[in-house]
Amino acid sequence: MARELALIGCGNMGSAIIRGILEAGLLAPEEITVSSPSAVTADRLSGELGCTATTDNVEAAHDAHIVILAVKPHLIEVVAREIEPALADGAIVVSIAAGVTLARLHAVLGDDRKIVRAMPNLPAMVGEGMSALSAGAQVDPAEINRVKRLFEGFGKAVVVPERQMDAVVAVSGSGPAYVCLFIEALADAGVAEGMGRADAYAFAEQTVLGTARCLLETGTHPAVLKDRVSSPAGTTIEAVATLEERGLRSAVIEAARICAQRNRELS
Ligand SMILES: NC(=O)c1ccc[n+]([C@@H]2O[C@H](COP(=O)([O-])OP(=O)(O)OC[C@H]3O[C@@H](n4cnc5c(N)ncnc54)[C@H](OP(=O)(O)O)[C@@H]3O)[C@@H](O)[C@H]2O)c1
Repeated sequence: MARELALIGCGNMGSAIIRGILEAGLLAPEEITVSSPSAVTADRLSGELGCTATTDNVEAAHDAHIVILAVKPHLIEVVAREIEPALADGAIVVSIAAGVTLARLHAVLGDDRKIVRAMPNLPAMVGEGMSALSAGAQVDPAEINRVKRLFEGFGKAVVVPERQMDAVVAVSGSGPAYVCLFIEALADAGVAEGMGRADAYAFAEQTVLGTARCLLETGTHPAVLKDRVSSPAGTTIEAVATLEERGLRSAVIEAARICAQRNRELS
């Protein structure tokens, strides 16, 4: 069977990607090779998932149709340089490294290479990722759609112009951290009001999940849902007024914009 996909780097995001693709049935294990510097990690993944595993990036990338680079950003160029001679003509290289631009990748791999820059997020681990994809100049619409279908194996995926990547990092890339802060704070309030810690987290987490699903599945605007929950002279509107007074919205907007700015500086 043809070697469809090589994954270089099997950490948090790399393993989430492979698990999602396999669980969605988008590829068979025999079509995937994963590469990790640690033989223990490579063997564990091949044992668990049934794909071929190696500690040799060049061997993994050799003749694969799609090569996903999932190493830390400071290693992306080193690894790209290492695998370039082994790439098949027409191979699509997908980098998920935060802040590494298509221009930087082309500088290492060559102007003729097909390159996709992707930005998934941590909920990919449970099949609920939100990924943005930007295609390099050599990637045609069928090819970017092929990569998009793989990323849809672990959540949603949208093709965006590369100039939007800073916004993507600020909203979906770093967003899980902001949501975690909110959940922690809400749970702390529950504990302060007498709830057990485990219950407080369960109530806060399910509330965030359920609210997001309501918005996604009914297409309701967040303001409409908020108005529906806030009865006149009731409890919720008191809390909403306090959040407004303390600047929740402006804090989130400012934080996300600083995040986008930081990503621009790092790119
Ligand atoms: N985590 C996120 O939420 C997130 C979101 C979007 C994008 N990303 C991007 O995803 C990439 C990976 O992040 P991560 O969170 O998955 O990091 P991670 O858990 O540290 O995974 C990186 C993996 O790369 C391996 N590695 C190191 N050197 C290597 C080499 N020369 N060849 C092959 N593999 C090598 C590491 O193995 P050892 O541990 O054995 O050294 C590790 O398993 C980053 O570029 C990051 O910007 C992450």
